[in-house]
Amino acid sequence: MSNRVALITGGARGIGRALAIALAQQGWEVAVCYRRSVNEAASLMKALRESGVRSRAEQCDVSDAKAAQAWVQKVEEEWGRVDALINCAGLYHRVNFFEETLEGWHEMFDHNLHPLFYLSHAVAPGMRRRKWGRIINFSIANAEQLRGQPFLTAHYIAKVGVLIVTRTLAKTLAPEGITVNCISPGFIASEGVPVEELQNMVSKIPAGYVGAVDDAVAVCRFLLSEEARYVNGANILLSGAWGI
Ligand SMILES: NC(=O)c1ccc[n+]([C@@H]2O[C@H](COP(=O)([O-])OP(=O)(O)OC[C@H]3O[C@@H](n4cnc5c(N)ncnc54)[C@H](OP(=O)(O)O)[C@@H]3O)[C@@H](O)[C@H]2O)c1
Repeated sequence: MSNRVALITGGARGIGRALAIALAQQGWEVAVCYRRSVNEAASLMKALRESGVRSRAEQCDVSDAKAAQAWVQKVEEEWGRVDALINCAGLYHRVNFFEETLEGWHEMFDHNLHPLFYLSHAVAPGMRRRKWGRIINFSIANAEQLRGQPFLTAHYIAKVGVLIVTRTLAKTLAPEGITVNCISPGFIASEGVPVEELQNMVSKIPAGYVGAVDDAVAVCRFLLSEEARYVNGANILLSGAWGI
């Protein structure tokens, strides 16, 4: 798998960060983008340099279509290829439906769903030419249940949309050697979810504990591998049996 290039959005923190380090250690060249986490991106670059492979971390808000497309184009021009896109960027907040602001409502779609459209348009042409590609998206473990969600409405709808985009892309791109899959976490200990919320959830998780970012890294590594070539359009629940 050496010399392949992976793009990781929201890669300065959380699952994306752990994945960037793991892939670099495996020989992947890694480009991450972040929105605000400047210091975390700088410390990530330090860690990535130790792996000895090419790596980069750039400020790019992937909710901005032009910025997202320009980032992909820059990496392709300078490194010659993009083999994998891992859409880790995501925003999450809990707020009652009738207390949600217009801005908050739109933000959930702008950061969780719309970047998949912008970025898949940007990476697909090169993957199609090379007849190989991997795209991984992140939803949420109970998305398939289409539940009423008084405190997570927009976030949840966006994550349901992620599943539909995943399956649409899988069907469209499968004939060209490209797989598109979804990982759906329940509760993974990362900065994205407040610690108190994770602690409160433990008693509701059948496995009895919150997952670690390395649990997500393990699934990503499988989906990126040659062994997973026939896994396409899948939604892999990563939740210790929560949300089923
Ligand atoms: N952790 C969980 O329990 C859990 C559960 C269900 C689903 N998920 C999903 O899994 C994915 C990864 O989760 P995580 O826990 O690793 O998240 P995280 O720790 O919050 O990291 C997500 C990163 O996304 C970045 N980001 C947000 N919007 C962005 C944008 N427009 N452009 C560029 N970067 C952006 C943030 O960067 P900045 O800090 O620079 O703003 C943040 O560092 C997310 O899609 C999340 O919704 C996670």
